[in-house]
This record gives sequence, structure tokens and C-alpha cells, in this order.
Amino acid sequence: MREENPPSTDLRLVESEERYQAVIENASDMIQSVLLDGTFEFVNKAWRNALEYTDDDLAKMTVFEIIHPDFLAHCMNDFMRAIRGETVEFLETRFVAKSGRVVPVEGSVTSRFLGDEVVATHGFFRDITERLRTRELEERTALLEREEQARYLEKMAALGKLSAGLAHELNNPVAAVQRANAGLRESIQRRDTALRGLADSVCTPSFWLAMDALTRRVLPAGTNDHEPDPIAISTAESAIEAWLEDRDIERAWDLAPVLAVAGVTLEELASIAAETPPATLSEAVTWLTETLVIGESTQIVAEGSRRIADLVRAIKGYSHMDRATEYDADIHEGLENTLTILAYRLRNVEVHRQYDHSLPSIRMFGNTLNQVWTNILDNAIDAMDGKGRIVIKTMRDGDHAVVEIEDSGAGIPSEILPRIFEPFFTSKPQGQGTGLGLDTAWRIVTKEHGGTIAAVSEPGRTVFRVRLPITPPPRGDDPET
Ligand SMILES: Nc1ncnc2c1ncn2[C@@H]1O[C@H](COP(=O)(O)OP(=O)(O)OP(=O)(O)O)[C@@H](O)[C@H]1O
Ligand SMILES: [Mg+2]
Repeated sequence: MREENPPSTDLRLVESEERYQAVIENASDMIQSVLLDGTFEFVNKAWRNALEYTDDDLAKMTVFEIIHPDFLAHCMNDFMRAIRGETVEFLETRFVAKSGRVVPVEGSVTSRFLGDEVVATHGFFRDITERLRTRELEERTALLEREEQARYLEKMAALGKLSAGLAHELNNPVAAVQRANAGLRESIQRRDTALRGLADSVCTPSFWLAMDALTRRVLPAGTNDHEPDPIAISTAESAIEAWLEDRDIERAWDLAPVLAVAGVTLEELASIAAETPPATLSEAVTWLTETLVIGESTQIVAEGSRRIADLVRAIKGYSHMDRATEYDADIHEGLENTLTILAYRLRNVEVHRQYDHSLPSIRMFGNTLNQVWTNILDNAIDAMDGKGRIVIKTMRDGDHAVVEIEDSGAGIPSEILPRIFEPFFTSKPQGQGTGLGLDTAWRIVTKEHGGTIAAVSEPGRTVFRVRLPITPPPRGDDPET
């Protein structure tokens, strides 16, 4: 039989204490025991690793020296609760390591009693640097997503506004062309009828010569550069109408205005009457009038289609439908396309161009610069309540192209000037501005084109200055992009 030598009580106690010490020393949590005066009784390995103080340091310190000043008041409070014997749970605070590094921790504090009296507080803490970093990252990502979403919505809203304006702008020439075209068919029919009447009667060659000379003089109608004098036209119209009625010509009230606007005189009408058999004078005047109307209508159709074609060309250029992503282009093209697109907002604005056409082409990325001009012009028009003067200057400054857009609006108050490029900064009433216009412009100019954008302002004169490298650095150099 084996002889058992049971260990003495003392030995067992020592063994038990060593075991607990080993558990505490090797725990992954930071553990500290602090006496009532705030001095350290012991700290474990995880604590020393995290906060870097040596036993010698700790011998001269109190717990309050490792707490971040911002959290001290709160921690004092918790410490006093622990001294009163309460357990403090879910404590979050910041410690300061010997190197000065701030260590965020969470944990709990309990009390150690000797009999009824608290003799020390025990703190158990976990380093939550990683968790906070993840939380911060998540918050930042969420914020960025919200910003991205807002930018997208702003873009869609801007696009909506632009297309509404364009639809309106296109609608005018389209309506004019349709109206002129509808009138054309009737005019041609009436002229044909008149012509048949004339063919049936005996018209001498000198009649046709007189007609030819007259139409040649007044056609194409409506192209006279000078504004017609409405009073003179109205007087002429009455005289012509009376002349026609005297000669029993049908639709005198219909024919007279056309003849008056075209500048046909009573003498000219008389000379035609002299060459025409009286029975066909009505056909002769109708033929003449409808010829003038047809001339005017074709003119309207030509002008309307030209305006439509100009707009379509501007839209194509603006939205860059026919280009590669990166290309060199004349900066004035984009400015002009933008002005055409914004024409619906510029109706009561004088636009002065002071272009330096000797500027070389500059490197562009997509059509985004047009968005810069649009956003600056949009703000300028807003600042002027739609009425005033805009001056657009281009110039060369070394290896940079400079575009200045000046408006005669109210100006930017000096207290908000430093903030205008901030995302979401707006002084406009809710629903009228998202505050992303200039933030977008700033991004495109600086991040995409390697340029700068700045504004100076006084009441009645605000200038946005965009400076773009003629050949910008390759994209991707900027660590933020
Ligand atoms: N030409 C200007 N004259 C006066 N104030 C201006 C001018 N341009 C910009 N601002 C000021 O800068 C602010 C920010 O402009 P930004 O274009 O970024 O936003 P917004 O015009 O308010 O809204 P959004 O363009 O998104 O519709 C404007 O609200 C306005 O106060
Ligand atoms: Mg704006």
C-alpha cells in the first residue's frame, strides 16, 4: 500500500494563492487592484502590456494618473462607488499609456472586503480600440453612402430641371415650325386657285414682269433687320384694306395685313392693277399675298429648324454623347453648349463673352466640366433673380487655362464665403438648394482635372475663377481619389 502524505494546510494555501495569481496574471483582460488612496496594489501582464508602465513607475503613481483627463470626473465617481462597496458594471473610459497613446477600455470594478470594510477595488478592463475603429468605420461608410445617395438625387434633380428647360426651349421652335407648315398647305392651295384664275384671263407679259419685280423687292418677307414700326404698319394696313375694298377684292381684311407688313405700297398695287384685267385683280392680289405668306412661312420653318438643330448639337456636345472619356477640347465649346442649354434661364440676362480664342485645347475627362459651368451659372442666375449681367472671360495663365464667371447679383456675404464649397452648405430655402452644386464643381475641378476653383465677392460683383492645367497630371495621383 502506498503511503499518503497529505499536504499541510499552509502548503495548500500557498498552492491555492499561486494558482489564482497565475490565472490573474495570464488573463487576457487587463486587471488592476487599487488601494483606497488610489495607489496600485498589483496589475497583471495584459495591463502592463497595454499601458506600458513598469512596476517602478506604478509604485510612484495613482490610478488617476492613467485616466484620460476628459474621463477623470466620471471615473472618480465610479471609484467612490466602488469604495462604498458597489459593483460598477459596463464602465467605458479612456486610459493613457506611458507613451501617451490613448487606450479606450470597457469593463467593471468590484470591491474587496476585509470583514465589513472595503480595502481595495479590482478593475477588469478590455481594450476596445479595434471595436471603436470598426464602429467609426461603419459610421463613416454609412455617412458616405448617405452623401453618395444625396449626390445622386441632386444629379437627377439637376437633370430633371435641365430637361424641363430644354423641352420648353425646343417647344417654341417646334410649335412655330408646325404652325408655319400648317399655314403653308392652305396658302399653296389658295395661290394655285388664284393662279388658275389668272391663267384663264388675258395677262400680258408686263403684268408678270411687274409682279416679279414686286415680289423680288419684298421677299423674303420678315427678314428686314430693322424692327417694323407698328404705327406705320397699322396706317398702311388701313389704307391697303380700303384700296382693296374699293375694288371689291375678297378677303381684304386678310390680305391687307400681309401686304402692309411686307411693305407693299399703294403705288405698287396701282401699277399691278394697271396691268391686270379688272375681273382678275382679286386673283392677282391673292396670288401676290399668298406668295408673300409662303415666303414668310418657309423662313419661319428654316429658322425654327436651325434653332432645333443648334439645341440638339449643344445637347450632344454638353452630354458628350459623341466623345471618348478623355480628350482635348476647346474650353469655349463647353461654355457655349452650357449657355445654349441654360438659355431658358438666361432670357433676361445679358451675357458678355471675353474669350481668349488663342487658348489651346485642354485635357478633359468626360463631360464633367460642363457640370462645373452649369453649377456656377445656375448660382449666378439665382443670385441675380434671373435678371442682370454675366461676364465670362477666358485667359491663359502660364500652363493653365483660366475661366472667370462674373455676375451682378447680390454677392456672397463674407461670413458664408469660406463655406460655399462645403457639401450640403446652402443659403437657399429648403427645397430650393441641396448645397451640392459647388461641392460637385470643386470635386470635378480639383480631383478630376487637377485645377483650382475660388470665389471673390462684393455686393453686385461675384467672380468664380476656375484654373485648369492645360495638360493635367494623370489621374490616380491623388491618394484620395
Ligand atoms: N454667384 C453667387 N452669388 C451669391 N451667392 C452664391 C453664388 N454662388 C454660390 N453662392 C452661395 O453658395 C451657396 C452654395 O452654393 P451651391 O451651389 O453649392 O448650393 P446651392 O446653390 O445652395 O444648392 P444646389 O446647387 O445644390 O441646388 C449658395 O446657397 C449661395 O449662398
Ligand atoms: Mg447651386
